[in-house]
Amino acid sequence: MKRIVVYKSSTGFTAKYANWIAEELGCEAIELNKIKKCDLVKYDEIIYGGWLMANMVCGYNKINEMNLKKVIVFGVGMTVPNDEVVAKLAEQNKINKDNFFYFEGGYNPKKVGFFKKMMMNMIKKSIEKKEEKTAEDLHMLETFKGADNTNREAIKPLIDRILEV
Ligand SMILES: Cc1cc2nc3c(=O)[nH]c(=O)nc-3n(C[C@H](O)[C@H](O)[C@H](O)COP(=O)(O)O)c2cc1C
Repeated sequence: MKRIVVYKSSTGFTAKYANWIAEELGCEAIELNKIKKCDLVKYDEIIYGGWLMANMVCGYNKINEMNLKKVIVFGVGMTVPNDEVVAKLAEQNKINKDNFFYFEGGYNPKKVGFFKKMMMNMIKKSIEKKEEKTAEDLHMLETFKGADNTNREAIKPLIDRILEV
């Protein structure tokens, strides 16, 4: 089985997961903008990872348009993971839920540009305004200060799914 991990990462968290997954599978991890369709068609299975922006898996459109043989997708965002979050993301991105995984990344304000940071500050303010904050809200507010919430253990279900353990 010829596999490759392809990813799009803006501040490094998705790249971290992509490299962990490649290490576990004993294959290469490469950035989306460094590989072309003519090279990807040579693989039996593509594991694609993109960071989340406004609930969309960045770069997935490009991969989807290539009509590749088999694609497993993972999204990386700062939302706290749970089954409902994962199901909603799969639906919004039009990905079969059996082929979709979500991992918690983090937030690095030092690497986020001005306009994107403004968007994030609006979300942060809307959480701050809530009178009754959930545990997830408090965790998100901590993450907004700058945090790496990546966890190598989280990739296990994806690895098991790929290796059909
Ligand atoms: C403009 C913007 C929009 C974002 N939208 C979402 C989102 O919809 N859901 C989410 O969970 N995280 C969202 N995030 C957080 C990033 O997905 C998160 O920081 C991720 O770990 C970045 O991955 P990267 O380091 O690979 O770029 C957003 C971040 C920015 C800057």
